[in-house]
Amino acid sequence: WERTLAKFELSVAGEGRGAWEFQLCHVDVFDDGGPDRSPRDVVANVLSWAPAEELKFEADVLDVSIKSSSVSSITDANICYINPSSALQELTLDSDVLNAEEQHTDLVPSKYEGGLKVWECTFDLVRYLENEIKDAKIDFDGKDVLDLGCGHGILGIFALQKGARVHFQDYNKSVLSSVTIQNIMLNFPHKEWKNKLNLCRFFSGDWESFLQLVKEGGQKYDIILSSETIYNPQNQQKLCSVFKKTLNSNGTVYLAGKTYYFGVGGSLRQFESMLCSAGDLTSETCWKSSDGVQREILKITFKKDR
Ligand SMILES: C[S@@+](CC[C@H](N)C(=O)[O-])C[C@H]1O[C@@H](n2cnc3c(N)ncnc32)[C@H](O)[C@@H]1O
Repeated sequence: WERTLAKFELSVAGEGRGAWEFQLCHVDVFDDGGPDRSPRDVVANVLSWAPAEELKFEADVLDVSIKSSSVSSITDANICYINPSSALQELTLDSDVLNAEEQHTDLVPSKYEGGLKVWECTFDLVRYLENEIKDAKIDFDGKDVLDLGCGHGILGIFALQKGARVHFQDYNKSVLSSVTIQNIMLNFPHKEWKNKLNLCRFFSGDWESFLQLVKEGGQKYDIILSSETIYNPQNQQKLCSVFKKTLNSNGTVYLAGKTYYFGVGGSLRQFESMLCSAGDLTSETCWKSSDGVQREILKITFKKDR
């Protein structure tokens, strides 16, 4: 299989469509190790995921330290966010995140999961939700919302602006403490920070242990927002479990993603079939892109007749 993969890498790189990078990120634990490796060596290669943790921030000691020249905005939704490449000196990031940024890598599995960049499906979902609100089809006021795999937290900030209580979850602690929190402050006047922060909670770490953490507190969400989180098939089951165990019985998940993630293997169709085979949940595509890379938004709810 190593020869087959190497051949694939060469053929993709040979197309010269851009800067492809390849990294062995997973070895099946049932691999017999091959002629040169013992099964023990193979097991040692399996990724280890950081445990979940709740992070606390005090409004009184927070400050927006970002220059306005390092801030971008989503004009049609009135949301601004830090542009990390121009604000890098002003952010306090850990070495995993910094290394990935320095190497211009969007993903280093189980070390850095892409939260430093705003991914394009986030813009799709904000636009979609804005229209749903205009048509009175969705209301965030007083709702419990989870922004799962939040990165910059734009979806959560949108919900916060519309009157929701929001939990922000990202794999990387320093993305939450340096980027997400700064973005929240950028979007509200100083005198409102304290009130807004009282409506927020922040969680770092892997989805599997995040689920254990919030389940212990009996937490349920009315709306779960998630963008560009299905790219890694190995993590999809964890996502399904979070949806199934934390969504209110009449709640809705809005999941935005690319129809297919080339190079990493996740796809919305394969995610949907895993989700629906689990029994209680059902999904429908409520929006599709008409240009560029194929993108969609799935609306996921519990089945009516379960
Ligand atoms: C590609 S980024 C998308 C960020 C943001 N939602 C956006 O659209 O701009 C994927 C996000 O999912 C989170 N994530 C990925 N795998 C995860 C895992 N196993 N456990 C927890 N979070 C994870 C990452 O922290 C990251 O923020």
